[in-house]
Amino acid sequence: MRIEQNYSLERHNTFHLPVKTRWFMEYENEEELSKILRDEYFQECLSLHIGSGSNLLFINDFNGIILHSRIKGMEVSREDDDTVWLRVGAAERWDDVVAHAVSNGWGGIENLSWIPGEAGAAAIQNIGAYGVEIKDVVDSVETYNQLTFERRVFSNPDCDYGYRYSYFKNEHNDPHIVTYVTLRLSKKPSFSVGYGNLREELEKYPELTLSAVREAVISIRKRKLPDPEVLGNAGSYFMNPVIPADDFAKLRERYPDVPSYPAANGRVKVPAGWLIERCGFKGKTHGQVGVYEKQALVLVNLGDARGYEIALFAESIREAVRDRFGIELMPEVKYVG
Ligand code: EPU
Repeated sequence: MRIEQNYSLERHNTFHLPVKTRWFMEYENEEELSKILRDEYFQECLSLHIGSGSNLLFINDFNGIILHSRIKGMEVSREDDDTVWLRVGAAERWDDVVAHAVSNGWGGIENLSWIPGEAGAAAIQNIGAYGVEIKDVVDSVETYNQLTFERRVFSNPDCDYGYRYSYFKNEHNDPHIVTYVTLRLSKKPSFSVGYGNLREELEKYPELTLSAVREAVISIRKRKLPDPEVLGNAGSYFMNPVIPADDFAKLRERYPDVPSYPAANGRVKVPAGWLIERCGFKGKTHGQVGVYEKQALVLVNLGDARGYEIALFAESIREAVRDRFGIELMPEVKYVG
């Protein structure tokens, strides 16, 4: 177990905000985690479990304990002629999991290539890209209840998945820490390449294979999204709003070119990037904060921005979208502090 005091989180958040935490604790296995959870001092402190910080906005220093898992490993826990169940430690880099699956010929997560973050957070967040969400392949999620210390294995339906949503994100539920995620991958992959420009990108490849899909997704992402190592960011800053069909019909009357995707219960998902661009924010900067010039849904730290500056700029974007379209954008990033 590693314990640090007054520890910088600059390398633990992809906005690279220079915040500190009072304590940083990193555990290697379930035993160490269980020990931390039962510790009285830990129970009295404010705590937050993080992955690689690719979806966090620290507004202030964190006056408590930041927990981080080092539980790694990828093993086939079961297989039959068609399917492989891959059990993955929560601290595995998500893209290493995708690379491992693709190189073994197991299909299901190739569209989710090159997404920053760790496997545990990916399952909590229900990451999604190019028409696929991790919920499509999650078999089960192993957890510890932070309050009762009970170990519980959530089946896929138990996770209550929705768009960028799961049971674990609902603040009305007891906090759970994810230790392992088991993915159900296919030995006889069927491809999902209908999303936007993925099909077009794939025309550059002689054959439709898992590696071709992975490479195509990586090249689209690299073209559109800034590398957090170069320009601090947390991917999509807002979620794409899901609106009632009637509201969408009215919107399309005013803006016939508005893109859209069908969502659950007859509702319609509208790309927030399009709404933000229409409000004139694409490529705009305010002090040390900017809207990325190639993807208006991404806010970037141009150098030494502070969390509150990013949050304030985001608020002005929300207001502009609300005034012009009557649509409320909700942040996808989690605000801390
Ligand atoms: N668009 C614009 N202007 C922009 C950006 C987008 O008009 O500046 C339009 C595009 O023309 C396109 C539509 O919006 O018609 C969708 O754009 P894109 O395919 O880039 O995807 P997105 O809806 O902006 C979502 C996810 C991304 C994911 C992509 C691809 C959310 C919040 N974001 O973005 O996920 O990679 O689809 O599937 O759902 C993330 O969550 O961090 C993330 C990057």
